[in-house]
Amino acid sequence: MKISVIALALSAQLAFALTIPKPNVEIETPTRTARTLFTIEFAPGETRDVTETEKWELMKAGTHFMDITNYGDLHEASQNIAIKAAIAFPTKLAAQPSVTPLLAKLDKSNIESNLETYAAFHNRYYRSSYGKQAADWLFSKVQEVITASGSSLASARQFSHSWSQSSVIATIPGQSNSTIVIGAHLDSINGANPSSGRAPGADDDGSGTMTILEAMRVLLTDPWTLSGQAPNTIEFHWYSAEEGGLLGSQAIFTDYKNKGRVVKAMLQQDMTGYVKSGTKESVGVITDYVDTGLTEFIKIVIDEYCDIPYVETKCGYACSDHASASKAGYPSSFVIEASMENISGSIHTDRDTISTVNFDHMIQHAKMTTGFGYELAWTTEL
Ligand SMILES: *[C@@H]1O[C@H](CO)[C@@H](O)[C@H](O)[C@H]1NC(C)=O
Ligand SMILES: *[C@@H]1O[C@H](CO)[C@@H](O)[C@H](O)[C@H]1NC(C)=O
Repeated sequence: MKISVIALALSAQLAFALTIPKPNVEIETPTRTARTLFTIEFAPGETRDVTETEKWELMKAGTHFMDITNYGDLHEASQNIAIKAAIAFPTKLAAQPSVTPLLAKLDKSNIESNLETYAAFHNRYYRSSYGKQAADWLFSKVQEVITASGSSLASARQFSHSWSQSSVIATIPGQSNSTIVIGAHLDSINGANPSSGRAPGADDDGSGTMTILEAMRVLLTDPWTLSGQAPNTIEFHWYSAEEGGLLGSQAIFTDYKNKGRVVKAMLQQDMTGYVKSGTKESVGVITDYVDTGLTEFIKIVIDEYCDIPYVETKCGYACSDHASASKAGYPSSFVIEASMENISGSIHTDRDTISTVNFDHMIQHAKMTTGFGYELAWTTEL
């Protein structure tokens, strides 16, 4: 089947080349790339080989997939992961006296000014120069937050890839290397014109990016967490190339798996800033392709620390970077701005601007993030 797909794609390409004169436009993807096939996974174990054009067509049509072309090892490993004893997450919260004062420190104006700058980059496409500039700017912002905290333990680094845009990883070390990962993706895309279209990506996923940055800032104001006394380590991840098929997160979790890193929990937030008018404001807790125990824990966190309820919803396979953590065998979860039918309709276009974003709603996500990070960093039960 693979072979016939290749043959078809090549003959179609050839016919095109012979009969139609080349258009005089600058594109990043010459014929060689157009002929290259990518292995796309649509559901666990269900793969197809497609051309780059087909890949973007699928994305435009709203199909979720992982591009596993260069991550065969992770894919193989995920199929061989023996059913592990599930991690038992706490069924009660224990850190309210420490978390509650932190929540009051979450500051909308930080999120607002950071997102304004971030959404002003022409796009954050992972193979464009703008995409690299935006990711470098974000890295400097993360470093700034760590420096301002006065921490001598916390650190940030860029995780480089085979494309120009790096991912960013910040670490707040605890007493052990057992790690709680809180993620978002730093890239954006214009679905109609990936390589050079305008893609402010204010909601997708500028919102998640700035939500977790503000939660990190506030967690670093806790003197005990700051001085490394939490039983577990907390990491904040900003993934490159999510829109290319979860590429940055697959690279990072492949690396973590190969190094034997212990990740006890991973929470992804991809879009935290939109509230559709006429709906009841709530937080969308994804219930498919996630760790059930961790997801139950998140519901308790929302009940305790947010001012709005959660609504259960489903987003399908590989709808964001938590899928890469799952593949590496790490318990993962995903929280989004609303029930899936009521998320922003402007994503992947030039209309995903800051004017669509509700900053109070992002504060609700930041409260959840802060509670989640603190409770899990400080539990000795994992
Ligand atoms: C964490 O891992 C690093 C690198 O392997 C090691 O040097 C360090 O001692 C570990 N820390 C703890 C607390 O286990
Ligand atoms: C989605 O929005 C519609 C209104 O546009 C509302 O009637 C519906 O209840 C919402 N769905 C959920 C699950 O909140």
